[in-house]
Amino acid sequence: TLPTFVKIVEVGPRDGLQNEVIPISAQDKVSLITQLADAGVSYIESGSFVSPKWVPQMATSTEVFQTLTRKPSVTYAALTPNMKGFEAAMAAGADEVAIFAAASESFSQKNINCSIEESITRFEPILAAAKNANIKVRGYVSCVVGCPYEGNISPDAVALVAQTLYNKGCYEVSLGDTIGVGTPASVTKMLQAVSARVPMAKLAVHFHDTYGQALTNIYAALQLGINVVDSAIAGLGGCPYAKGASGNVATEDVVYLLNGLGIESNIDFNKLLSAGWFISDKLGKAPISKVSNAYLAK
Ligand code: HMG
Ligand code: MG
Repeated sequence: TLPTFVKIVEVGPRDGLQNEVIPISAQDKVSLITQLADAGVSYIESGSFVSPKWVPQMATSTEVFQTLTRKPSVTYAALTPNMKGFEAAMAAGADEVAIFAAASESFSQKNINCSIEESITRFEPILAAAKNANIKVRGYVSCVVGCPYEGNISPDAVALVAQTLYNKGCYEVSLGDTIGVGTPASVTKMLQAVSARVPMAKLAVHFHDTYGQALTNIYAALQLGINVVDSAIAGLGGCPYAKGASGNVATEDVVYLLNGLGIESNIDFNKLLSAGWFISDKLGKAPISKVSNAYLAK
């Protein structure tokens, strides 16, 4: 059975933009975030506090958080790899943070320069400080189906990392198919293994659309009981440490799917399309969202 409501976690301003080479000003990022909030998106990952040498596009995150005009109904979240990032996120006024681990050792090394175990050790003080400050922490697991360096990843490896993040205090764990290789078969196996250790209600899915499977994987996940879906406006993004990985599934495409299935998301579809056109225009390219292009052609 399908859920009646799906929460969209909009990651475009972070996961989407982090991989774009054309610098987007803090002001334009704020404008995008504001348009997404006005469209009814209730959770927006608005930036990340990582090394600006590693991910230059996110260097303006402090300015973005500080100049946002907030809607009380919206969570403006930040990605934080270590205490330095957590402190910067708090100083900038992030409502919530996300920590990110991987199910693959090689990816962990390339992405955050440490092993999976070391990354968990780095996250512990974040979890403790966040608890003290009453800040919620979301967890990510990358490479939940495949890794750009190691190939297939076993569902058990994913389940172990997800369980660790959950047991250590993440209120939700988002399962990232970083390189978009999953199909409903592999995604189902992975979700079955993870949900044996973490309740399905505490899991989210995060699909990149590299192989064009994201929507069908989302549909499979919804049928298994997932009701939180990460997506990026206009289908922006990729991962700087996963060569060839394309953007996240487009929020417009996900909302079109949900609308078609009669699943509520509280998102105004037309306003969402406009937000996608706005940022695509700033990047000088057409939206990657098929739905968005279909409406543009009308
Ligand atoms: P490191 O070099 O091992 O760390 O990097 P370090 O502690 O030795 O610090 C080195 C330098 O970075 C120092 O500066 C630090 O001050 C600075 P220097 O002395 O050289 O001038 N530094 C920082 N600066 C700003 N903010 C910080 C910070 N920490 C250290 N928080 C580190 C380790 C994690 C920092 C680095 O590897 C990094 O920033 N990686 C970026 C990873 C990233 O952003 N990846 C993309 C996001 S993850 C993703 O997209 C996947 C996801 O979407 C799910 C999916 O799709 O699978 C979530
Ligand atoms: Mg991602």
